[in-house]
Amino acid sequence: MELLLTLDRAGDDGRGPLPLHVQLEEQLRDGIRGGQLAPGTRLPATRELARQLSVSRGVVVEAYAQLTAEGYLTTRRGAGTIVAAVAARPEPPVPPSRVPRSAPEDFHPGMPDLAGFPRAAWIRSLRTVARDAPDAAYGYVDPVGAPELRATLARYLGRARGVGAPPERLVVTTGLTQGVALVARALARRGARRVVVEDPGFMVHRGVLAHCGLEPVPVAVDAEGLRTELLDGLSADAALVTPAHQSPLGGVLGPRRRAELLEWARRERAIVIEDDYDAEYRYDRGPVGALQGLAPELVAYAGCASKVLAPGLRLGWLAVPAELLDGVRAEKALDDLGTPVFDQLALADFVERGELDRHLRRMRPRYRARRDALVAALAEHLPTWRIGGVAAGLHTVALLPKEVDERSLLARAERSGMRLHGLSWFRVAPGPPGVVLGYGGLSEAAIARLVPQLGAVYAEELAAAAR
Ligand SMILES: Cc1ncc(COP(=O)(O)O)c(C=O)c1O
Repeated sequence: MELLLTLDRAGDDGRGPLPLHVQLEEQLRDGIRGGQLAPGTRLPATRELARQLSVSRGVVVEAYAQLTAEGYLTTRRGAGTIVAAVAARPEPPVPPSRVPRSAPEDFHPGMPDLAGFPRAAWIRSLRTVARDAPDAAYGYVDPVGAPELRATLARYLGRARGVGAPPERLVVTTGLTQGVALVARALARRGARRVVVEDPGFMVHRGVLAHCGLEPVPVAVDAEGLRTELLDGLSADAALVTPAHQSPLGGVLGPRRRAELLEWARRERAIVIEDDYDAEYRYDRGPVGALQGLAPELVAYAGCASKVLAPGLRLGWLAVPAELLDGVRAEKALDDLGTPVFDQLALADFVERGELDRHLRRMRPRYRARRDALVAALAEHLPTWRIGGVAAGLHTVALLPKEVDERSLLARAERSGMRLHGLSWFRVAPGPPGVVLGYGGLSEAAIARLVPQLGAVYAEELAAAAR
């Protein structure tokens, strides 16, 4: 066989060539990965290849040994050295990164103030649990979560969110998104096919449902959340909703619609998945309890630390109806055998010390001030925008005049160094243009600087469209 291998003995980058066996390894590895050397291909004997390349046999032996250790080659007595089957498998597709490419000023919806993360208190909790936990905590724990955190969460969710679930019904997850995936897979395994989702709604979770083999069935929302009168006849097995603060429009699902949704679930033997992502933040209205408290056997409740603390913690939790518990437990074990233990124990310690309540007491006025600054600046610099969903959460929604080209506005904003997020990202059915403006991560000073700049960007966009 002909192998197009070239070895650089002189080196042309001034740093001298790589060792010959490394060069040979790299070229063979690239050939295998790229498919030019197909699985099953027999490579020349070491002596033969050494002769072809005019190198010592030891160079080829070394390269073959390394690639065999990495799994690219196999050696069989009598058959020589063969390209392994496993090596040619295509790399799995890389999911799109949510990590920002550069760092322009970002109206990222739902991003809390990362600079306000209570580092000292968190470190104290981490240090305490790493020091005091028994040796067993360093082993495998129950995949559904550390007992300490489940007990703490049962108390916290009961008092702060009106969730009625004993610790045995709680599952600790690596974020709300994993919680949705676990419930979705448990539902799919028992035959569920279709899940109602809010339109507009959080696009990531639509993707998660589809990835779990379920069909998202969009249902319109208005200023009061999901339009429950549209549920009948959809033949859905579940509904994923954000009752305390509809994502993104900001409505609260009122008592009548809550009753209708639960009645629908009862009638259709469906499960409601409650995404309670940011209910702790509200400014001009009273608290809204979790839907789960009204019907713990119909509602799988999902919460997270992503808004109350930081998304980077990747901590979340589920309160699961009895009929789904075994299924969700199995899915969690299959996923990862459990959430990192010391993060769980640290969160339990943090909550028990009262640090979470203290943090929320500190952050609410900060976010309210940011919200007020944003609303006032928008009124001054973008008076034609219709602002909604301002009473709670970490973002507001601006509906734009219908002739505005949302994508073009976003691109223009990006070029000016500021990132906006379009409402169309959340939509299934087409609708009027809009932007979802997260203010949690922007200081009042940044808002005061950015909104006039946004006003100028918008004026340019209108002028360009008129030309
Ligand atoms: C509606 C909604 N649900 C859930 C989440 C958070 O999920 P996670 O805890 O996986 O970060 C977000 C974050 O942006 C969200 O907007």
